[in-house]
Amino acid sequence: MKRITDAVTWVGKIDWELRKFHGDEYSTNRGSSYNSYLVRDKKTVLIDTVWKPYSEEFIQGLSNILDLSSIDAIIANHAEIDHSGALPMLMERIPHTPIYCTANGVKSLKGHYHKDWDFRVVKTGDTLPLGDRELIFIEAPMLHWPDSMMCYLTQESILFSNDAFGQHYASEFLFNDLVDQDELYVEALKYYANILTPFSPLVLKKIEEVLSLKLPVQMICPSHGVIWRKNPTQIVEKYLEWAKDYQEDQITIVYDTMWEGTRRLAEGIAQGIGKVAPKTEVKLYNLSKTDKNDVIAQVFRSKGIFVGSPTINRGVLTSLASFFEEVKGLGMKKKKAAAFGCYGWSGESVKILTEQLASCGFEVAEEGLKILWEPDENALEKASEFGARVARYW
Ligand code: FEO
Repeated sequence: MKRITDAVTWVGKIDWELRKFHGDEYSTNRGSSYNSYLVRDKKTVLIDTVWKPYSEEFIQGLSNILDLSSIDAIIANHAEIDHSGALPMLMERIPHTPIYCTANGVKSLKGHYHKDWDFRVVKTGDTLPLGDRELIFIEAPMLHWPDSMMCYLTQESILFSNDAFGQHYASEFLFNDLVDQDELYVEALKYYANILTPFSPLVLKKIEEVLSLKLPVQMICPSHGVIWRKNPTQIVEKYLEWAKDYQEDQITIVYDTMWEGTRRLAEGIAQGIGKVAPKTEVKLYNLSKTDKNDVIAQVFRSKGIFVGSPTINRGVLTSLASFFEEVKGLGMKKKKAAAFGCYGWSGESVKILTEQLASCGFEVAEEGLKILWEPDENALEKASEFGARVARYW
């Protein structure tokens, strides 16, 4: 239980142990939190709950500070299980409590839990009077699920943004101004890159819509990570940047290698880039040895990427195949790319990588660099020339 304001209490769970999210799809190397909020005015409402494994301690914690039957309403901003997981156990205790959510929220909650709770469907602009304050609902479809919603608490001027503006970042400090700013930035960007990139056009539209309401914002309380208290709109400004085909002066070289040949080509390419673009940050990642979500965050920051694999079984190494599957879904735009790789016999990898890059929406620079057998000095020079030639136009 942590105080946010006199009327708002954080009642969530900090999950220091979490290392994977969405099954094993997303790495959470700094843990996460499931933020749930209790708003107490003349009426008492609970905004979201926590992930299912923490249901019991969540309900016990709530019971320690109030009689559960005094909860007048539950707001389910989003039905995904990390926020609704404790609902079934809670609703066993207070089965007649109304649950406010979007129409899609009803579908999703019924789909998950198969219960006919007292659902109250809300739309953008609908309000729930609490006494001195009221909650204003703002639908946010596809940020990041069709059922997603935010709500705004008047008087406190708090936007409860659910997944938007979150970070998978565990901290006993609840507020943005108290944590390591570099860590916070890295986790907020990684979260955007890996989760919200496909919805960037909708992010822009939604932010414009919320800004047009001209509501004062004292705090943004997301459902993961820390609360934006100091300069709360800094994260909104970041989202506006990130949603506009974000890129920095960075080139990322992503590869995998069997016997070091493709790795040496990657390093040759990096040298070549350095010759023509010494101010451009160049980063190299072996996909088999690096967290893929961290690599995706680096790709998100890049203006261009080189992707390399040797040929194996007339294809590419499986780490690259998995990488493309994820990158394709993210739909990053306006990034340049080129492929490279070693081969000994049939040599299909560079063609496959080039096709994959194009199908992921990258602007492919040229045919790519194929090197037969182990690179010698001549081949490394070719790699360097390739890096320089391509990077000169990026
Ligand atoms: Fe944090 Fe979409 O759940």
